[in-house]
Amino acid sequence: MNKKIAVITGCSSGFGLLTSIELAKSGYQVIATMRDLRKQDVLLHEAKMNGVESSITVHELDVTSQTSIKKLKSYIEKIGRIDVLINNAGYAVAGFAEEIPIDEYRKQFETNFFGVIAVTQAVLPLMRAQQKGIIINMSSISGRMGFPGMSPYVSSKHALEGWSECLRLEMQPYGIHVALIEPGSFKTNIWSSGNHIIEKSAQKESPYFHYMKEIQQYIEKGEPKFGDPIKVAKKTAKIASQSKPSLRAPIGKGVSFNLFIKNFLQWKLWEKLFLKTLYK
Ligand SMILES: NC(=O)c1ccc[n+]([C@@H]2O[C@H](COP(=O)([O-])OP(=O)(O)OC[C@H]3O[C@@H](n4cnc5c(N)ncnc54)[C@H](OP(=O)(O)O)[C@@H]3O)[C@@H](O)[C@H]2O)c1
Repeated sequence: MNKKIAVITGCSSGFGLLTSIELAKSGYQVIATMRDLRKQDVLLHEAKMNGVESSITVHELDVTSQTSIKKLKSYIEKIGRIDVLINNAGYAVAGFAEEIPIDEYRKQFETNFFGVIAVTQAVLPLMRAQQKGIIINMSSISGRMGFPGMSPYVSSKHALEGWSECLRLEMQPYGIHVALIEPGSFKTNIWSSGNHIIEKSAQKESPYFHYMKEIQQYIEKGEPKFGDPIKVAKKTAKIASQSKPSLRAPIGKGVSFNLFIKNFLQWKLWEKLFLKTLYK
């Protein structure tokens, strides 16, 4: 196979779908994976509209299933080449820490963190043998700063950041580069279908009801200003084509500014400012 091969997880919608199209447009053969193949029509339609249907192959992958990952591994080994892996699949659990069942934390980590490790482990032997490859992990601004009412998501993305730093240091001698994309808020399904709010915190009986409501209102108020996900897809495709990408790529309205302020201010001042903005 002469064309470069890119594997992307979570391509049924959002960043994954759009990045599949962008990479196909820039000459890759894309293995666009999704856990529910019944959802492939949207991607295939977009691919056709962009004239890249022959550059995209849809493959079933649930990042929480070892059986599913094994099948992907055999498939890639048959092709015998992988240039780019984009660990994109993810979802968000919201609620206040005290009220979130531990199993919801576990499930959150299974997808957003352990899923990334498992898929990466499946492609590393081939990449290492090639002495070449790029692994892009879809983190979030939530991987760099805490947000009340989002602790499962925030902690899974913080874990992803730490793991990616280690992996980057481990793999560089083998010519494999690891990069993190850190989007702010973008208009994708994650805010509706993907966002699992723990009902308990959103109910009047909850001691956190008032704060949860304020957080939801804060997010809803910001929604019209959420970014166009195509920007993230284009950035991801650009990073995939770089020979030595930077470790982190923050993207989105106010993301770099917020990170700068958070790192610049003392925590005491930062939390005061943050909570004042959040809770009116
Ligand atoms: N949108 C934002 O504002 C934003 C900001 C920062 C970071 N991110 C990150 O960007 C990534 C993509 O999210 P998105 O915004 O594009 O949301 P999205 O449209 O909801 O896409 C999420 C994708 O992940 C898939 N997925 C979830 N669990 C999976 C599993 N176990 N195995 C395989 N696929 C699975 C979903 O598949 P199904 O259709 O089957 O559910 C879907 O294809 C996530 O990692 C998210 O944390 C998003």
